[in-house]
Amino acid sequence: MKIPEEKIEEVRTATDIVDVISAYVRLKRRGKSYVGLCPFHKEKTPSFHVTPEKQMFYCFGCHEGGNVFSFVMKTEKVSFIEAVRTLANRAGIELPVTEMAQTADTQNEQLFRANMIAARFYFESLTQTPEGEYALEYFRSRGFTDETIRKFGLGYAPRGWQALINHAAANGLDIEYLEKAGLAGKRDDGSSYDRFRGRVIFPILSTTGRIVAFAGRQLYEDDTLAKYINTPETPIYQKGKLLYGLSMTRDAIRKQEYAILVEGYTDLISMYQAGIHNVVATSGTALTEDQIRLLGRYASAVVIVYDADSAGSAAALRGVELILEKGLDVKIAQLPDGDDPDSFVRNKGKEAFLDLVDESISFIDFKASELQKQGLFSTPEGQARAVRSIIETLAKIPDELKRNFYIKAIAERYDLYDSTLHRELDSVTRKSRQVGSRPQITDREERVTDAGTVVPGDQKDSSQNPAESFSSAERDILKLLLESDRDVLEFIFSQVTSDELQHPVARSLFELLLDHYRKTGSVNADVLINDDNFSEYSSIVTQLISERYEVSERWEILRGFEEFSVNMQLSIDAVRTLKKWNIRERIESVRKNIREVERQGGDPESVGMLARDLQILQQELKLLDQHYSSTNK
Ligand code: CTP
Ligand code: MN
Repeated sequence: MKIPEEKIEEVRTATDIVDVISAYVRLKRRGKSYVGLCPFHKEKTPSFHVTPEKQMFYCFGCHEGGNVFSFVMKTEKVSFIEAVRTLANRAGIELPVTEMAQTADTQNEQLFRANMIAARFYFESLTQTPEGEYALEYFRSRGFTDETIRKFGLGYAPRGWQALINHAAANGLDIEYLEKAGLAGKRDDGSSYDRFRGRVIFPILSTTGRIVAFAGRQLYEDDTLAKYINTPETPIYQKGKLLYGLSMTRDAIRKQEYAILVEGYTDLISMYQAGIHNVVATSGTALTEDQIRLLGRYASAVVIVYDADSAGSAAALRGVELILEKGLDVKIAQLPDGDDPDSFVRNKGKEAFLDLVDESISFIDFKASELQKQGLFSTPEGQARAVRSIIETLAKIPDELKRNFYIKAIAERYDLYDSTLHRELDSVTRKSRQVGSRPQITDREERVTDAGTVVPGDQKDSSQNPAESFSSAERDILKLLLESDRDVLEFIFSQVTSDELQHPVARSLFELLLDHYRKTGSVNADVLINDDNFSEYSSIVTQLISERYEVSERWEILRGFEEFSVNMQLSIDAVRTLKKWNIRERIESVRKNIREVERQGGDPESVGMLARDLQILQQELKLLDQHYSSTNK
């Protein structure tokens, strides 16, 4: 499909990346490469590198990277095809017209094209037609600015039954594709009609920013169909697999390392407009595993902000369990009764919203308060049932250390013995193990050696591999130890102590590797796998070395840069992430203490001390970034 590979190659070889980038960035030669200030993020010292030899660029600050085509795509915000066309023009290479026409050749491309034509039509109907004025007024009354309307490509679908159909025909788009894209329906007599009529329109974009579907919200009183009508599933739209807003918010999410999860299109848009950019919306479906997995590529924690009504709470509860199961951290922010995120941020503003996020509570507190509302805590049996129900949620967390941490919290809160709760947890996990559903380590699958280290027991299948429940940083660090030269080993062992690893199995593997390194001066995965002392770890080691690095995205791109030790860069990222997580956890526990003290009347001296602790930890967090900034190493 698209432009023939040879043509692309011709354009590539005719183009010098240093030349192209020089038009945007002042580059200075340094060794084999050129460096300059990164055009993709704000910085004072250059961490943006271009290597002519590889014809690649990479920024060690913000991790943008790629080849000359991706550079043009990113700076000019165009598609790959358009980038090729731009560079072809520049190099004086002619791309035959027929080939350009072929670019939209495949069926999916036709669907994208249909959606694009529809989106433009809806936007123009909203902003440039008399019929659209009422809809425009509606958006304005909801506080959406013109810029927001443009940014989100909002629109209006006219009331006629054929408005889009006629417009598409005039643009040479076959009606077949409107139907396949879900934009038109077919009557029994073979005639077609617009799916969206007399509604305000929200385009839905894929993660990479292409229009894949639409949602139409009711606008007129006499419209008796559902409040929202959505594009049905099509070859380019599976609603459970994408998150509304992600294409615009993923950079912010990655930067802040957590995502705020809301339910509605308007929630997301209002928050975005208010300056809160690390948001995604599920929009019209219960949260799915695919969505969590997708989110997990950008964030390690999620704050759920759902409506205060009971449907909102129920949805939040279901979401919580799924998120925990996937190994992400989750908290719940509670809105005042009657508010949704949209109304709250519009009326109270960004800061108030962020306060709400700051005050978000753990799933335990959330579940407890829900059960309390149901009156469960009024009798001893009820309380027992409530605690059991909380333990059931707890059991979803794959990481044992985290589970233990929460057990302590529950024990404190309900004045119960840890051991009682552990027994309860055991019985829950045993039950679900009989059902055969949970891939995680439990007491039976790991045992404590005489030396006190925890080793994994026999694994029945790969889904039970403990490496699955290591954090990304733990995985990367162990993987790096298994795959790197001396300098990286020295670096990691000098920066990380085993108690910084949270997972008991990760920790004991780390200790064994350190021990082995001290004795032999090297670590060699091939040797280790066949070493009797490591037999219990062989499946973990095998899994680790067959995985990709997680913390540092785009590590493939780094491979183009021999003059930097790739693994060294990766290990700096991993060490920094590991340390950040640990500090975050401590911040969390200090915050909790503060709340506890405040609940008990707020002894000013204790609060003061805790507040100072908090400050110091936050300072530490900042220093970490400076200390492990990749460019300085
Ligand atoms: N939704 C849907 N179909 C419906 C109702 C709701 O797909 N019939 C989805 C939409 O994605 C909607 C979300 O559920 O955004 C939340 O629903 P709701 O709270 O009712 O709507 P809001 O987004 O708050 O919309 P508005 O503020 O315009 O009332
Ligand atoms: Mn709303």
